[in-house]
Amino acid sequence: STPSSCPPPSSSPAPASHLIGRKEDIVKAGRLIKTVNGCREILVLYHQGTLHAMDLRCYHAGGPLQHGDIEEFNGRLCIVCPWHKYKITLAEGEGLYQAVDDPTVKPLRTHWRSKGVKQRIHKVTEVKGSVYVTLNDCSEAIESDVYQTERYRTGSIQA
Ligand code: FES
Repeated sequence: STPSSCPPPSSSPAPASHLIGRKEDIVKAGRLIKTVNGCREILVLYHQGTLHAMDLRCYHAGGPLQHGDIEEFNGRLCIVCPWHKYKITLAEGEGLYQAVDDPTVKPLRTHWRSKGVKQRIHKVTEVKGSVYVTLNDCSEAIESDVYQTERYRTGSIQA
C-alpha cells in the first residue's frame, strides 16, 4: 500500500460529514477547494443545479481539476483535466476515452469506453442551506488516492 499521512476514510466507524460552506456562496463561486479531515484536498463544484465533490488532483498525473472545463461526452457530464485532457465523469469518477473499433478501417470509427472508476468522488449533502461533504470510504484503492499522500505533496512522486 502507498505510505500516507492521510488516514484512510474508512478508519472511522461512521463516516463524518464535513461542512464546506453556504450553498449560495458555492453557487456563486462555482468551484471551491477545501482540505477535509486535515489532509484530503477536494474540489466542490456547482454545475447545472447540482453540487459535486471529488479529489482535487487528477488521477493521471495530479493535474489541477479546479481549472478543468465541464463537457458532456456520450451523454455523461465530465470534467476535462487541463493538463492532458483526460475526461472524468462527475457522477462516478470514471475515466472515459474514445476507442477505435478497427484501426485498419478508414475513416476510423470510434466509440466511448470507460476505464472504470479512477477519481474518488465524495458525497455532497445540503442541510438548510449548508453544504457538507462525506468522504467516500470505499476501502479499495482508487488511482486519485496517490495524489493525496504526503509523498506526493513533498515531491517524491513527480507529476
Ligand atoms: Fe490530468 Fe494528465 S494530469 S490528464
